[in-house]
Amino acid sequence: MPSKPVLFTAAALIAAGVIFGVIFWLTSRANDTTTFALLHTGKTIAENGRDGQPACVQCHGGNGEGNRAMGAPRLAGMPAGYLEKQLHDFARNPLKAGVTLDPIAHDYNKTPKIQVDLTALTPGVRRVDAMNAISATLNAQEVKAVAFYFSSLGYNFTAIPSDPETLARGEDLALRGKPEYGIPACASCHGADGKGYGNHFPPIAGQAPEYIVQQLNQWQTGARDNDQMALMRNIAEQLTDGDKINVAAYFANIAVSSTGGVSSP
Ligand code: HEC
Ligand code: HEC
Repeated sequence: MPSKPVLFTAAALIAAGVIFGVIFWLTSRANDTTTFALLHTGKTIAENGRDGQPACVQCHGGNGEGNRAMGAPRLAGMPAGYLEKQLHDFARNPLKAGVTLDPIAHDYNKTPKIQVDLTALTPGVRRVDAMNAISATLNAQEVKAVAFYFSSLGYNFTAIPSDPETLARGEDLALRGKPEYGIPACASCHGADGKGYGNHFPPIAGQAPEYIVQQLNQWQTGARDNDQMALMRNIAEQLTDGDKINVAAYFANIAVSSTGGVSSP
């Protein structure tokens, strides 16, 4: 017959185990419920739109795969935090009517570098008619939900072919940059394979070349100025039209795919 203290310790250990087990089960269930609720809300917005605004899937594709002809990027599998940030940036008030932006000359010899207080540029705006209107109808929780939903979707992006000369020039800019003009390699922030890093440095591989060029154009004109510390704008300002086409062809030539899935919201 074991002594009383031994029995007591054993009972206490078993009780503690049961209590921890129940707490663990409850928290994991709570997480499941949050995940499920977010995905459900996100899917509903994605497939039905809001306040008379068209559904996201009408332009971004039924599975968020993007629509090359419409210029709508792939959203499937993009980092949720990145998508969330973009939706907030789209929702921010565009400039008042009547204000126009002069495109910056593409010949960078004519474009002296403007030195500004970089912190004054964030949080910026992103002006795209289709997206500005829709984003403004979503509250913060809905933005989180729809971003989380699209980030959970799998995708299969097939490489878009291009001629070897264009690809070689694009690769050079992507992997080496143009140190002589102070342009870092795209790969240093977007990853060697263009798959991005975390929520702040989005993947570029797996987007159509037209979309990539379009973004670089928008940084040059100032229509997109939502990058932290003008990281992209400072680079885009120095790219020639040829650079943009080459580097876009290079990244669009990388096949990427994912089966999807959720990480915690
Ligand atoms: C009428 C077409 C249309 C609809 C509807 C639409 N989008 Fe878009 N969306 C676009 C286009 C076009 C772009 C690319 C804009 C650009 O060139 O910068 C875009 C860009 C985006 C981006 C930026 C992605 C990136 O890689 O930076 C996000 C995020 C996004 N849309 C989310 C949504 C969500 C969520 C919905 C539904 C609530 C939605 N869109 C509905 C056309 C649409
Ligand atoms: C110093 C870091 C840095 C370097 C180098 C860099 N980028 Fe970026 N890039 C960023 C950041 C940060 C963003 C996201 C900005 C935001 O939050 O909207 C971005 C966004 C982009 C996007 C938009 C993706 C989307 O889904 O809308 C494209 C396209 C892009 N970069 C292309 C390039 C190319 C091409 C190069 C090389 C010529 C390059 N970047 C080099 C930091 C960098």
